[in-house]
Formats: sequence, C-alpha cells, structure tokens
Amino acid sequence: MGPSEQKPEHRRSILAEVALEAELDGAKARHAESKGSDLSSSHKDLKVREAVSLQLDTAPAEFAEWMAEISAFSDRFLKSLNDLPAHDREYSLGRVTAPFAQAPTPFATLLSELESNVLTKGMNSVSGRFMSYVPGGGLPTAALGDFLAALTNRYTANYGACIPGVEIENQCVGWLRDLVGMPLMAWGVLTSGGTLAALTALVAARDTRAAEEWRRGVVYVTDQAHHSIAKVLKTIGLVETPVRVVAVDSEFRMLVSALEDQITADRQEGLSPWILCATAGTTNTGAVDPLQELSQVAKREGLWFHIDAAYGGFFLMADQTGDLLKPLGLADSIVLDPHKGLFLPYGIGAVLVRDGAHLKNSFAFNAVYLHDLAGEAELSPSDFSIEATRHFRALRLWLSLKVHGTERFRNALEEKILLARHAYDRLSRMPLIAMGPYPQLSCTTFRVEGGDPRTRNLLDHINRQKVSDNSSTRLGGKLFLRLCILSFRTHLQEVDAALDEIERFR
Ligand SMILES: Cc1ncc(COP(=O)(O)O)c(C=O)c1O
Repeated sequence: MGPSEQKPEHRRSILAEVALEAELDGAKARHAESKGSDLSSSHKDLKVREAVSLQLDTAPAEFAEWMAEISAFSDRFLKSLNDLPAHDREYSLGRVTAPFAQAPTPFATLLSELESNVLTKGMNSVSGRFMSYVPGGGLPTAALGDFLAALTNRYTANYGACIPGVEIENQCVGWLRDLVGMPLMAWGVLTSGGTLAALTALVAARDTRAAEEWRRGVVYVTDQAHHSIAKVLKTIGLVETPVRVVAVDSEFRMLVSALEDQITADRQEGLSPWILCATAGTTNTGAVDPLQELSQVAKREGLWFHIDAAYGGFFLMADQTGDLLKPLGLADSIVLDPHKGLFLPYGIGAVLVRDGAHLKNSFAFNAVYLHDLAGEAELSPSDFSIEATRHFRALRLWLSLKVHGTERFRNALEEKILLARHAYDRLSRMPLIAMGPYPQLSCTTFRVEGGDPRTRNLLDHINRQKVSDNSSTRLGGKLFLRLCILSFRTHLQEVDAALDEIERFR
C-alpha cells in the first residue's frame, strides 16, 4: 500500500513522527550552538528533552492568541444561543477522535473542530429552550471562575495549602448552611454533584451505627426518590439494609401516616428504623415531601433525617414557596445542587450535615506526608470529603454570587416558579391535554388524553420542532411529559413558544 492509499490516521501518525524528529533535531542544534560540546552525553540528553518540555509551557504571546480565540468563540456561541436548537441530534461521530498525534496540532484548528462537532451538539443545556430532565445552568461567570481555578491550580483541599482559597470554600459552605437555616455546628463540603453529595451524607449517616447493625436498620424512601439514593446505598455497602418504599399521596409526596405504619411494622419485626430519605423537589414532578411532619417523625423515632434538595433546595429563596422549604434546616443531612438551582455549570453539588462532627468523623484522615499542611483547628475541605486532590470548585460559586449578588438568583428562581404556573394554566386550557399535579416548584407535567402512544407522539413532535427540548417520565404507570423550567435563560418567550407548539399538535 503506497502512502496515498494509507489510512488517514496512519498518514497522520507518520507525519507526527516526522514533525517530532524535526523538533528534536532543532532542539539539538540550538543546544549545540548555545553550549558548545563540553557537556557529558547524559547532560546533553537532558537538555535536549528540556528544550522540548519547555514548549508545554505555552509562550505568553501564543497563550494570549489562544485567549483571543476563546474570547471570539465565547462571543459567537453566546450570541448564537437563540438560534441553536435545544438539542442538536445531527452529528457525525469520529470527527474529533483521530488518534492522538505525537506532534502538536494548532489550537485554532482544534477549537474550530470542537465548535463544529462537539460544543454545539447534543443536549444544549445552556439554552433557554432546554426544559428536559432537570436543566443544568451554565452561567458564564462560573466558567470564568473555573478558568481561574484551573489556571492558577490552587490546592484548596487542605487548609494549610492555600488558606485564602480554603476561606472561599468555607465561606460558600457557611453561606449554604445559613441559607437552609442549619445551626452553626452544621458543616459540609462542595462536591462534584448531587450524587456525590448524597454519598457523603449517607456515609456520615451509616457511620452512626456499627457494621453489625446495618442489616437491621431500615431506610425509608418513596418511589419518587432520585435513583442516586439507591446507587449510593449500594455503593456504601448498605446492600442488606432493608429499604421501604413508602406510599405517596396524589401529589407524589410521602404519606406521613404510611411512614408511621411502616415504622411500627418494622419495629414489630425486630428491625431498627434508621434513615429517612425525603425529597425537596422530586425529579419527576418537583414534589416536596411534607418536611415539617417528617422531621417530627424522624425526631420521635430516632431516625437520621436526610433531605435530597438537589433540585428544590434553592427555591427556599423564592417568596412563592412560603413555608414549604423552611424546614430544610431541620435535616440531619441535606443535598443541594448549585449546578441546578444556582444555574452553575455541571460539576458542583453540596452536602451539609447538621452535626459537622459526624462528617469529620467519617472523612478526616491523616498521613505523615501531609503533616506540613496540618491546620488542626481549621476546616479543611478534605476532612469532610471523599476527595483528596480536588478542583477549586468554590471559585465558580463564589465569583457568581459576588458578581451578580444574591438578589438576581432569588429573582430568577421566582421567575421559574411563575413560568411553571403559567405553563400549567395554559396547558390546562388546551382541549386534549390532561394535567399532572399543580407545580410545587418549577416542573409542570401533562399528558395527552387517549394514552401513552399519543403522549409519545406529542413528545416527538415537540422535540422535532426544536422549539424546546422536553423529556418524559411515568406517573402512576402513565407516560407524562415534563416542562422542567430551571434554566436562567428560560423566560416567557421560550415557555410560550413551547406551549404554542403543543397547542398546534393534533
Ligand atoms: C432530586 C435529585 N436528586 C439528586 C440528583 C442527582 O444529582 P447529580 O446528577 O448532580 O448527581 C438529581 C439529578 O437530577 C435530582 O434531580
């Protein structure tokens, strides 16, 4: 097979080798010129490698060019958001996955390939028309926080490694604690998302009992709980722990009387009720379990009261929720997801534990090679987390809260609630549509009268029109569509466009 018949990736790798050889030869020649020939051969080898290694550290002028290209891309991307579909399913695979070459590829080429083939494809969760699942955010401010965190690579897991950086981490945790109304002894940590936050919380809960007791303890959930709870229970070894699925009411909230009956039955069976997992904002409908009553049951029965507020927690800031979410502060542990309710990009969750000592008890470890960093009296994030080395993810939260101020977030959350109610009102006037429960938060559910196939057709119709992106679920065994309104870019125009499309469906 001649060169022109070779597979493109093979040709590319030959080219890469040739380029690397040339680079090494150049480095050798430069080195010989500058240093003469009096160095030992191992020293020469070292200096040759150094000359190439130095190029990993992009020259300031070149880096500035890349930044300009990033800036131009950001500008194009943000300006095109209104035109981009909420879900771009038209992509060709393999466009950017040619084997990694030995030689460099120009940054501009890569950015252009990424822009065309990856960064604008798939679910466009930064679009205001994205109303599927639980939309993530993507505040540009947070992207800058991430950039600064990565560029400066501050180590903020241990207090001693970057005291002011840890101060920022801790300011964020303290702000979340005060927001939900937990006492000062509560503490927590920022995680990569809700699932890791639940894992952290439930390890703390698990460690309140000796391993021999785990199989006698009972965990209580509803069938509306997020599947991360089941995943976490398995991951942390509570595989033999009985899990009771407590009945829900017509609005998909845990039935307190059913919980009480189940606890009584479990005690009669010789089991020992243990962890109550409530949800403040279910993924399916945004239902909020009756937190106040559940906390009373938990207190009376000696249960660890865990609240998954990954979706709903930040709606506590909204006036429209009244007292609904006030009892969040009564939890023994709580999960929040700033990459949902605070509109940040994927990659930030949070856990808070009422008695922070429980968390520290589970996660604080020491090692001789870390003793130089020890700050005994201080709160090191790694003492409350499964992670050791970790991204300085507090910076995206801190920067967003500082740049915008908290009021904009409150206002946006209130807008989302009002939009979900508006969607409910309009949908309930449409002749063929049957409604799910009235939205407690920002998720409106509905179906087409006449069964699942018609409802499925409507979903396909909406998504085909690309006016909005929606997803479905099952409620009481029936297929329902969801308009989950949580993007900071979703406003009346986007919701009305989605509703107009639904209205046109026959
Ligand atoms: C109610 C609820 N809990 C937990 C999670 C899991 O969070 P994450 O995807 O950040 O791990 C989700 C995700 O949508 C959720 O909606």
